[in-house]
Amino acid sequence: MEELKLIYSETEIKKRVQELGKEISEHYQSQSESLVAICVLKGAFIFFADLIRKLNLPCELEFVRLASYGQDTAPGKSLKFSKDVEISLANKHILIIEDIIDTGQTVYYLNHLFQPRNPKTIKICSLIHKTGRRQQDVQIDFFGFRIKEGFIVGYGLDYAEKYRQLEGIYELVKK
Ligand code: IMP
Ligand code: MG
Repeated sequence: MEELKLIYSETEIKKRVQELGKEISEHYQSQSESLVAICVLKGAFIFFADLIRKLNLPCELEFVRLASYGQDTAPGKSLKFSKDVEISLANKHILIIEDIIDTGQTVYYLNHLFQPRNPKTIKICSLIHKTGRRQQDVQIDFFGFRIKEGFIVGYGLDYAEKYRQLEGIYELVKK
């Protein structure tokens, strides 16, 4: 049996996303090269949609699809990359927008994928920074919430494709 325990309410998320939008806007404001915000599907889609509307900057929106999880809550061994961006990234500022960073494998992979395309900069923004199982030393430039452990669902994040549509963020507790 699964039980959901609320950890961040809709109101808390809204407030934090607004703050993040301000922080990111201030960071890029003085740059003349254009910004590309890249959503990592599927998990980041709700966070991405809310965050980009709080950015006070012109930006292009792109999507990649990368999955590492099957039906379980333990990290999968291989990543499945099935959709790339559709524009050139040369000389642009890249902001990768993720739902959660756990082992760090996904953003490590994306960094290595985009680096050879000669962007001006690559930065990472994640709604949740989960610290307890990190395997790759990746720099997370902007994040919403930091947690140590636990499997999280809601606000885009799933467990076996369930719970993405929940307004709040919950910890999934297996009984
Ligand atoms: P990483 O590659 O281990 O950093 O994991 C990143 C991906 O695994 C995320 O983009 C999520 O899709 C998934 N993931 C990791 N932890 C969780 C979680 O607690 N809930 C839901 N998905 C997770
Ligand atoms: Mg993801």
